[in-house]
Amino acid sequence: MLLKKNSSMIQKDKKIPCTLVIFGATGDLTHRKLIPALYFLEYQNHLPKDFNIVCVARRNKSPEEYRKEAKKSIKEFSRIKIDEKILNSVLKKIHYQKLEFGNLYDYLGLIDFLKSINGMDFKCGLIFYLATAPKFFKTIINNLASSQLSGKNKKFNANKVAFEKPFGKNLWTAKLLNNNIRKVFHENQIYRIDHYLAKELVQNLLVMHFGNSTFEPLWNTEFIDHVQITVAETLGIEGRGEYYDKNGSLRDVVQNHIMQLLCLTAMECPESLSAEHIRDEKVKVLKTIMKSNNPLKDSMKGQYVSGIQDGKKVKSYLGEEGVRKNSKTSTYFAIKFCINNKKWKNVPFYVRTGKHLADRATEIVIEYKKPKNKLFKNHGYDLKNNQLIIRVQPDEGIIFKFNAKIPGNKILIDQVSMDFCHGCKFGPNTAEAYERLFHDILNSDQTLFARWDEVEYSWKIIDQIRDAWHDVKPYSYKPGTWGPKEADKFIKKDGRSWNVPKKPSYSVLLD
Ligand SMILES: NC(=O)c1ccc[n+]([C@@H]2O[C@H](COP(=O)([O-])OP(=O)(O)OC[C@H]3O[C@@H](n4cnc5c(N)ncnc54)[C@H](OP(=O)(O)O)[C@@H]3O)[C@@H](O)[C@H]2O)c1
Repeated sequence: MLLKKNSSMIQKDKKIPCTLVIFGATGDLTHRKLIPALYFLEYQNHLPKDFNIVCVARRNKSPEEYRKEAKKSIKEFSRIKIDEKILNSVLKKIHYQKLEFGNLYDYLGLIDFLKSINGMDFKCGLIFYLATAPKFFKTIINNLASSQLSGKNKKFNANKVAFEKPFGKNLWTAKLLNNNIRKVFHENQIYRIDHYLAKELVQNLLVMHFGNSTFEPLWNTEFIDHVQITVAETLGIEGRGEYYDKNGSLRDVVQNHIMQLLCLTAMECPESLSAEHIRDEKVKVLKTIMKSNNPLKDSMKGQYVSGIQDGKKVKSYLGEEGVRKNSKTSTYFAIKFCINNKKWKNVPFYVRTGKHLADRATEIVIEYKKPKNKLFKNHGYDLKNNQLIIRVQPDEGIIFKFNAKIPGNKILIDQVSMDFCHGCKFGPNTAEAYERLFHDILNSDQTLFARWDEVEYSWKIIDQIRDAWHDVKPYSYKPGTWGPKEADKFIKKDGRSWNVPKKPSYSVLLD
């Protein structure tokens, strides 16, 4: 678990798998994130000495060709400097094997190949990383079982399997997929990835909440007015029309990333920092999220039209390749969640996400109530609410906004802020999400991965909202704005307004 001291070191008492098999190894994710992350781990001396990385995909390629491409990706996407010696050492670990996901014979070929490189030592375990579209998950799992590369018996206990999101399209498909996987793997072998969980500032939430006596006693309905969670992107669907149109922002971002951020913000103190205790508390939050009597009133859906963003022309969503002509798919969603427990009674959690918005920012804003005393109110001052802002990305940090006196003879009050700049304090080289995730899979630490019941309860909540909006036309919004005008009205009717994410003052230090 990451919060532990020395967590970055491979734990000596656990069996470290000797081979990682990446399915979908010629894809964008593998080249942009996974291969550079493995270079980082090698740089940090965190990959076992005799480790093999077997990259599989459909295309015909020689291992030399693949290594050349991997080298290029590391040089292009690595965040850390390139050390030729380390680069060569990680490249030596990389192999390529052609494999068609649906062809069982190719898996037999994979077995032969694995035997040829490490004698197929099942005892030290294999990690299967599915960096593929979800439609292939079932086929790959079935073929791993049929080819005797994995299974539920003891011989395969050290094997692990990691899935990219999304895990299912709704509760029903997620259940079917999970049942299928559980025939071959035990829950403790399954790593459902939500790379948001591995972001430094997301992990910091637990420390902020439970590790500070200035915040912990105030983290409840008595002091907090409401919470806002924003995941805003300036990018559009980036040529993924066909995929995106079947999913939309609710499935793409809310069901996984936003629900995880909400759970981590709202959870009660876990019994310990173990993966199971933390996940237990997250599930309790999901179970207490109140079912809305009227999802169309408690949420709203948007879709971008054409316009200009940062001086560039943006096509409307409906004009994007692969998108259905009259698609009602959301590129924006805002939802108000209420949690039915003592801690959060009458404290709404407003969440929103969208594409082509005014700025790229992921933030959690905890907005406090006004002070109970009326001292300043009685003198006509309109104090602003204190805010604690956890800036997850970019410019990671924590900002606390409070009221202070402006210098001078009279009492004039303004909101000022205390900023903690994560990159300024700890430097830019702390592990990134995929580096962390690989490290934790190697060490059998499941804290940063979603357990099945988290996925299940999250889908239950999202399905209700999706069903309500399914046939309803979305509100439109111009690219480069903060979403549909109706989204402002949506929160305004509760007497509140969206916090506009702003570059923190320390961002100049990071540039
Ligand atoms: N890209 C990202 O930044 C990102 C971030 C988070 C999550 N994800 C998720 O990660 C997954 C993969 O994304 P991606 O962007 O890497 O996809 P991608 O670029 O389309 O890559 C797909 C990979 O799957 C392989 N493939 C497809 N059909 C195959 C078949 N029948 N047999 C064997 N190999 C086959 C392709 O091999 P060939 O090239 O040889 O055909 C390629 O290696 C998706 O679920 C996505 O949602 C992606």
